[in-house]
Formats: sequence, C-alpha cells, structure tokens
Amino acid sequence: MKVTQTTAALFAAGATAAPSAKIQSRAACSSAVTLDATTNVWDSYTLHPNSFYRAEVTAAVANLSDASLSTAAAKVADVGSFLWLDSIANIAKFDDAVADLPCENILGLVIYDLPGRDCAAKASNGELAATDIAKYKTSYIDPIVAKIKANPNSAFALLIEPDSLPNLVTNSDLATCQAAASAYETGVAYALTNLNLPNVVMYVDAGHGGWLGWDANLAPGAAELAKVYKAAGSPAQVRGFATNIAGWNSFDQTPGEFSGTSDAQYNSCQNEKTYISKFSAALSSAGFPTHAITDTGRNAVTGLRLEWGDWCNVNGAGFGVRPTSDTGDELTDAFVWGKPGGESDGTSDTTATRYDSFCGKDDAYKPSPEAGAWNQPYFEMLLKNANPAF
Ligand code: GLC
Repeated sequence: MKVTQTTAALFAAGATAAPSAKIQSRAACSSAVTLDATTNVWDSYTLHPNSFYRAEVTAAVANLSDASLSTAAAKVADVGSFLWLDSIANIAKFDDAVADLPCENILGLVIYDLPGRDCAAKASNGELAATDIAKYKTSYIDPIVAKIKANPNSAFALLIEPDSLPNLVTNSDLATCQAAASAYETGVAYALTNLNLPNVVMYVDAGHGGWLGWDANLAPGAAELAKVYKAAGSPAQVRGFATNIAGWNSFDQTPGEFSGTSDAQYNSCQNEKTYISKFSAALSSAGFPTHAITDTGRNAVTGLRLEWGDWCNVNGAGFGVRPTSDTGDELTDAFVWGKPGGESDGTSDTTATRYDSFCGKDDAYKPSPEAGAWNQPYFEMLLKNANPAF
C-alpha cells in the first residue's frame, strides 16, 4: 500500500477526531495485558478498526463514484481488520495504529516480510532475497518485538506469514520455493520464539481448504507447522492457525462451492469450517495448538471463481461477516477481516515485474493496481455486494 498525501492527511485528521470515549478508555489501560492462549481471547477483545484502514476508507468515501453509497461506505471504517506490516519501512505504521487503541480492543498485525516472500507467485514478492535471513531477524522481527514490548498494556493478535509454510508443503517443486525453504522455516521459528510475549496471541497461516485441505495435504501440512513450532520451542502464546487469509471460501456453505468438481472426492474440506475441523485434528496429532481464526472479509459471494485456486482480485466479490467471536464453532475462535478489503491482491498490468497470470484470468477484476495498493472501484464493488449489507 502506498501512502498518498491525501491518505496521510486524512489519517492525521482522523486521529485528531477520535471519539472522546476511546481516548478515555485508553487512558484507563493502566495495567499490563496478559493473554491466556489456552482460552479464546476474542471473547474478551474486539479486533481494532485500525487507523490505517480507517484512513483508506475515509479517503475512499471522499472519492466515491456513486454518492448513494456514501453512508454505507463510511461504516466500513468502523470494521476491525488486520494491519499488514509488509516491509521494514511499514513497521512505522505500528505507532499510529497503537496510538488510538482502546483497552477493550486488540490490534491485529500481519507479520509478512519473509526472505523470498510469495515463492509460488509473483504479485507479492517481497523486499528480502531468499538469502536475507539475518536481515529478516534484525531489521524486521527484532524492531516489531521492541515495539510490542514497549506497549505492555496493549493486546496484540499476530497472524504469522501468510502462505509461507503452505507453499513449502505443496510447491516444493518450484526452484523459488526450494531456495526460500530454509529461510521460511528459520524465519517463522524466529518470529514465534521472539514474539512470544504475554500481551500477544499468535496464529500461524495454514492456507485454506482448497490448499492444505486436500486429503493428501492434511498430514504433511500439519507436520510442517508442528516442525516449525517445535523448532521455536513450542511457544505458549501460539493459539493455533489462520485460514482463508485474503481468501474467498465460504465458512460453512454446504455442499461446498467446489463440491461438484471432478476432483472433489479427494478433498473432504469443502468449506472452511470443515477444513478447520479436519486440519485441527491433524495438528493435534502432530503436536500443534488447535484453534483457528478465519478471514470473512471478502467471502460474501460464492460461485465466482473458475477454479478453486484462483486468488487474485476475484470479480464480483462482496464484504462478508464482520469480525466476531460468535462463530458457532468451538474450534473457530473468531471471524476476522484479514485482508483489508479494497487493497489489491496484485497488478493486472502485464508489463509489471510483479505481474502474475492469476491476476489476468477471466475471473479477476481488471484493471487492478499493485498488491496492497488501493483499488477504489473494487472497494465499491465489495460494498455493493456485501452480505450482510452495510
Ligand atoms: C498483499 C501485498 C501486501 C499488502 C497485503 C494486504 O499481500 O503484497 O503488500 O499489505 O496484500 O493488502
């Protein structure tokens, strides 16, 4: 995401105009937070509508092509979502995000800067080369650890490195993933060990049902997560895993969206609820904590993808269920908004270095800007197709 001047200015305005109730409750955060990762922390904390996404949405409201959407669009700013610390420079977003955090809210952060990032695709290739593990530790993880330690009275939910370990399970035939494998395992273990702080709860990314949910992938997927978790010293603040991050799968559609396809017999996880149940069981056998959060930010409309693996800017999508711990499922701690809806998954510009062919498929919205950059028409589409409506 690029911070435009408009966004930065609006951010400043938004911060000044924070409701006084929030300022008062923040002043009341006088004691250190201790999160018990053997319990569901989302029963006591609300995912924070972070100031960065608020600023993006506020700017979008000012730029609406369809003014009748204005009232509904403004409400999106109040939805809690994760903030992506997707580069060393963007660690700076932490300070603004924590500044208006009420005591009853938890700040969701995505840890996302592994060496050789996004090894099986191109759209989100990162800033660190596969050999840059030392820089990942000292210039990326260590500064985040320091910031969290400096805010002991605030609560943090960390989503650890989307797509990374799943890529090692299913894309090990790719040279780029082979080159990054050691750094992924070492880097994730380092993150888990060092971010294992009392005011933190962690979820390790586990792809989605159409990825590690294939019968042949469940046990190897669980083994991979458990291997890294044990290498990290089995940190107490790891609560479990995250699914469907930036994904499109329904939580409980039955039969599942892809249940009618010819290979459905090889995947018993046709919705995320089933995937969470089955992957959780595999994790339990492998010795990894068994609870999950799942992304419902953009999964309101199904039947849009040509193939289950299509991941880029799916056309026709809508905002889904708002973050809540009321999931009706003991293993599913919370529905969260992981991907900030309106930010692109990848560019559709075929001449760009990070152009990935998935972003040019017939089911992908075009034109779309670089991954992370705001896509105003896409935001308006998500809003129009939201379920529940805003
Ligand atoms: C993509 C981008 C990343 C961005 C994230 C959230 O993964 O690569 O830069 O922060 O999406 O929009």
